[in-house]
Amino acid sequence: MGRGKIVEFIDTGSIMNSKLDWQFPDLLARAWWNLVKTGCPADWFELLPELDFDRPDRSLEPQSLAVLDYLPRLASMATAPYRGIIDSLIEAQANLRFGQTYSEADFGAEFLRQYGWIKILGPDAYWHSSQLASGFLILGNDVTYPQHWHEAEEIYLPISGNAEWYREDQGWQRQPVGTVIHHSGGVKHGTRTIGEPLIALYLWRGGDLNQKSAIQ
Ligand SMILES: [Fe+2]
Repeated sequence: MGRGKIVEFIDTGSIMNSKLDWQFPDLLARAWWNLVKTGCPADWFELLPELDFDRPDRSLEPQSLAVLDYLPRLASMATAPYRGIIDSLIEAQANLRFGQTYSEADFGAEFLRQYGWIKILGPDAYWHSSQLASGFLILGNDVTYPQHWHEAEEIYLPISGNAEWYREDQGWQRQPVGTVIHHSGGVKHGTRTIGEPLIALYLWRGGDLNQKSAIQ
C-alpha cells in the first residue's frame, strides 16, 4: 500500500480515536521498522507501506498482559541494538495494547500467563496494512507454543532469548537471536522456551492476517 492509500484511509475518519492523547513512541516505531526491513526477504519489500512514524493510523486502548513481567529480563539478556527496542516497550507498556490469539480453552491458563504479542502493523493495528502484519511475540521462560499452522506465510526474528523452534520438515531446532525463521503458509510449526523468555519480531503476509491458527 502506498502513501496515497494511507492518507485516503485516514480521511475516512472511521478509525481514528481522538479521545486518546497518547501517541505511539516514534523511536520504538522506527526501531521496529528497521528490524522489519532487516528480516524481510526481497520479495516482501513491495508490500511494505510508507509509514508516518509521527502519526499512527489508529489509536488503540491499552491492554496489559502477565507475560510483560518477562520484559525486564529480556532487556537484560539483550545486546544492542535489540536492547533499545525492549527498553522502549517497557517504557511505553502502560499505554500499549498487547493481545492474545488464544483462550484458556485452547492451551490452558499457564500458557496464557507466558504468551502474548503486540501488533504494530496490520488490518487492525497502529499502522494500517491489509497485506502485511507485524509486531513482537513474547513468551515466558518455560512454555511451549504448541504446533499450529495458518494460511499466512510467517517470519520470526528473535531479538532476545534462544528458544527452540519446530518446523514439520526440520523438527525442533535451537535458533539463536538474530536468526530469520521462515514458515510457509500451512506448514506446522511451534516454539518452546527452556529457561529463557523470548521476544521475536514477527511478520505475516498472505491469507487472512487475523486468522486464528489451526492447532493440533
Ligand atoms: Fe505461526
